[in-house]
Amino acid sequence: MSPQIKVGKLTDIDPLGSRRLNVNGLEIALFRLSDGEILAVENRCPHKGGVLSEGMVCGPVVHCPLHDWRIDLRSGEALDPDKGCIETFPAEVQADGTIYLTLPASLLCTPDADTHIA
Ligand code: FES
Repeated sequence: MSPQIKVGKLTDIDPLGSRRLNVNGLEIALFRLSDGEILAVENRCPHKGGVLSEGMVCGPVVHCPLHDWRIDLRSGEALDPDKGCIETFPAEVQADGTIYLTLPASLLCTPDADTHIA
């Protein structure tokens, strides 16, 4: 079973904004949609590695800031006509606004893994 970790509060992320989390070298982007939903994905465009957290969010889709590929934040898939995908991570916002992410156990195997959004 993958561990669920506390990474911050909903108020840490502006509406339609994003924050980053680096866990043992894997950079994760957390996006806050207009309805408060949080979606978490690998922060690396499948095209040429653009930093997705710097892209514009439109619904559950982020536009890569480099060449405007559109990535579905729920599935991690690039939208037509582009092809590629990134990893997604289940995120949950509790009633008190605390955000939890479910990450692969292998990412958290060192005791100094940083698990708070920056
Ligand atoms: S690097 Fe993202 S569209 Fe090219």
